[in-house]
Amino acid sequence: MISIQEDVIAGLLENPKRISSRWFYDEKGDKLFQDIMELPEYYLTRAEFSVLKMYAKDIFSYFTFDKPIQIVELGAGDGKKTRVLFNYLNAENKSFEYIPIDISLNALNRLENALKKEYPGMAIKSIQTDYFSALKKDELQSSKHKLVLFLGSNVGNLNEKDAIEFFKQLHQALKPGDGVLIGFDRTKNPETILAAYNDAAGVTRNFNLNLLTRLNRELGANFELKNWEHQPKYDIERKSALSFIRSTKEQSVTFEKASKTIHFNEGELIHTEISRKFDLEDIQNLASKTGFKLASNFDHSMPLYTDSLWLA
Ligand SMILES: C[S@@+](CC[C@H](N)C(=O)[O-])C[C@H]1O[C@@H](n2cnc3c(N)ncnc32)[C@H](O)[C@@H]1O
Repeated sequence: MISIQEDVIAGLLENPKRISSRWFYDEKGDKLFQDIMELPEYYLTRAEFSVLKMYAKDIFSYFTFDKPIQIVELGAGDGKKTRVLFNYLNAENKSFEYIPIDISLNALNRLENALKKEYPGMAIKSIQTDYFSALKKDELQSSKHKLVLFLGSNVGNLNEKDAIEFFKQLHQALKPGDGVLIGFDRTKNPETILAAYNDAAGVTRNFNLNLLTRLNRELGANFELKNWEHQPKYDIERKSALSFIRSTKEQSVTFEKASKTIHFNEGELIHTEISRKFDLEDIQNLASKTGFKLASNFDHSMPLYTDSLWLA
């Protein structure tokens, strides 16, 4: 797994500059993301929660439970929505083991502690790593029957090339009959989408700028927060919400631990997140290109969100 220092410095030496969204999630970032999920503008979480609640039975009808099924969750976060699936399986007396994977150790520790209290006896093994490295872990390579969860529109944070490569590799790691449930945020009115990344209370702003505070702490950088601002936009052609951090003046930032100084022009942008949106055709194409069979789309129509179940 690449280190934060190596990845951030490499991204800031590119033109245009970028920092991967994976570094949003330190302890403060995890908490801010939980706050984002509660915002009135952030429809995604509520839509997916309803989909899982409404369709848990249909989703699991594609799986046999003669042996405990392995539920592997990529980018699990606080697992709030995943509990809907656990509750269904417990009510049906279907046994499973849960493997949450996340780059944030803080998120994993909190999740594991909470689940152990809420579901005593639940078989759980968390793994801290990134999506691509996760595919090489023994748990992903095992012959156990699996459902891989990739919820919360995490798929939208991968650009098209990375998404294709990721799902091809995931397909190779799975056995026939294993499944992947992926949360896709659908294309819709651009204002509705943009508002979800530019809320009135400024929580998404704080989430984006918290990256700089993290770099100050972990890489010994000297970003002055007052010289930076949150800049979101919706790119209709790319069907993507894009988040940037904008330099409000010409300035240099030194990263003491990396012995590196980076120059920024006034108005220069650091690209920090892509959140791609999908049509049904895009979902079908991604499945077909990467070797999966699309088994079923579970939709929430107001506003549009789809959890798509693919089989290996
Ligand atoms: C947008 S949140 C969604 C959380 C959860 N899936 C949900 O639906 O509520 C993304 C989560 O994925 C994790 N994450 C982001 N990039 C990652 C990466 N490249 N590899 C592993 N985890 C990642 C973050 O730490 C965070 O917990």
